[in-house]
Amino acid sequence: SDWGPFKAEIDAFMTQDTQWRAFPIVGGEKVETGQTHTITSPYDHSETAGQIDWADAATVTKAIDLADAAFPAWSARPASERADCLDKTADLMEENYPELIALCHREAGKTIQDSIDEVREAVDFCRYYAQQARSNFAAPHTFTNYLGQEQSVQMTGRGVFTCISPWNFPLAIFSGQVVAALVVGNTVVAKPAEQTSLIAIRAVELMHQAGVPTDVLHLLPGDGATVGAPITSDKRIAGLAFTGSTGTAQLINRTLAARGVAPVPVIAETGGQNAMLIDSTSLPEQVVRDAVRSAFASAGQRCSALRVMFVQEDIADRVIPMIKGAMQEQSVGLPYLHSTDVGPVIDKKAQAMLLEHIERMKVEGKLIGETALPTFADKGTFVAPTAFEIATIDQLTDEKFGPILHVVRYKAKDLDKIIDTINNSGFGLTMGVHSRNETTCARIARRARVGNLYINRDQVGAVVGVQPFGGQGLSGTGPKAGGPHYLQRFAIEKQL
Ligand code: NAD
Ligand code: ALA
Repeated sequence: SDWGPFKAEIDAFMTQDTQWRAFPIVGGEKVETGQTHTITSPYDHSETAGQIDWADAATVTKAIDLADAAFPAWSARPASERADCLDKTADLMEENYPELIALCHREAGKTIQDSIDEVREAVDFCRYYAQQARSNFAAPHTFTNYLGQEQSVQMTGRGVFTCISPWNFPLAIFSGQVVAALVVGNTVVAKPAEQTSLIAIRAVELMHQAGVPTDVLHLLPGDGATVGAPITSDKRIAGLAFTGSTGTAQLINRTLAARGVAPVPVIAETGGQNAMLIDSTSLPEQVVRDAVRSAFASAGQRCSALRVMFVQEDIADRVIPMIKGAMQEQSVGLPYLHSTDVGPVIDKKAQAMLLEHIERMKVEGKLIGETALPTFADKGTFVAPTAFEIATIDQLTDEKFGPILHVVRYKAKDLDKIIDTINNSGFGLTMGVHSRNETTCARIARRARVGNLYINRDQVGAVVGVQPFGGQGLSGTGPKAGGPHYLQRFAIEKQL
């Protein structure tokens, strides 16, 4: 949980002398489009991490042409060979640990711990999906009927897959989507978030170095309008993996449908309005530790993060002041300092939206507490972790993606009603429960419509292969990243 033996190597990438220069990668070539954008660091906008050219229309079309042509040969390769490319990618990510960690800081503003976790998660996705592919895709499943006739079912790739990812897990989610699509036998056009494309480009370079053919995987940096739209509207797209906001997922669904061709699978992992339910049997110290981490770690920029904490009124007057106290102990600051608990938010647009919500809540709710900002906060995009008491979850409409916690008191007799109001928000990603009453835990687990339910712990940081992650309703189409059924969503089954 610290820099370990890599400190000096990471430091070498932390100076302004190290600047990344990146381009779209199509057919293995770096394409200079002249549409150059500068990436600044969220903790200090006078510092840059590098420059990137965005893809233009011709580059996007060429990438899809090449990916389409490469599909038959790639999908015909044995799954074990494709899995070998994933294991090799994992090895290369580990070899490039210091650079990838530094990029997580400089481009995404992640803390040391979050950066380490991020690279580890990307490595875990590669190794886990490699192992899953060897188990499920290497040989057909065979069946024999009572007459002795044999059938088999083979899972193969579908064609060109579009992968679109967010900035908050710029390496792990980006890589997880791409390697899942590839190992099944699809070819890929990938679009990282515009705020964090440098690290995605390093990931693609490592995947190519690991043996993924250059005509099979293409990287198209750019924004939603110039790159996202054409890679969802092209009729050759045979499937799409998306992680990001619910609104963008809905837009993508409409674009895919408007193509007027056969429907294709959409693997969408989207936002949440995540709750934690705390009853009077819970341990306040444990509640506070887990709630503060769930709400404010990663500056609240996790889809899994706690947004609304429901506290049974019998212990509310004990727990709420403790939350306030714990918030005063947090340190907001530069992400590469060990003493920092909370770093910056991603950009000015996110900061403005969060500050506007805080102002609204100051009028509509009751301020519980806020964490002090550092003196240099104006250099970057920092938002003070802030907590409010509100009357009902209905005061919140959409997800506020940052370090803002809302607290609602409830009466024990209203527990089912509270769960129903949470369900009625339409989101269904994570839920935390703190109770020492097993019947209560079981009752909540039965009634709540969420993808990931965590009991007596924090509700962030799902581990690949241990806590398969993904939500339902407005939070996603259901597939669980890092779980045993994820790869099947990228495949088509053929009976022989
Ligand atoms: P976003 O929806 O703004 O952007 C996500 C991606 O979609 C970006 O690459 C963006 O360029 C692209 N995009 C935007 N418009 C597009 C269009 N018209 N066509 C195609 N692509 C388009 O989300 P964000 O701000 O980058 O990420 C934060 C969101 O992601 C939050 O809502 C968070 O909850 C969610 N998220 C969900 C999960 C999960 O697993 N459920 C994980 C991480 C983040
Ligand atoms: N998988 C991430 C988490 O669990 C989003 O926090």
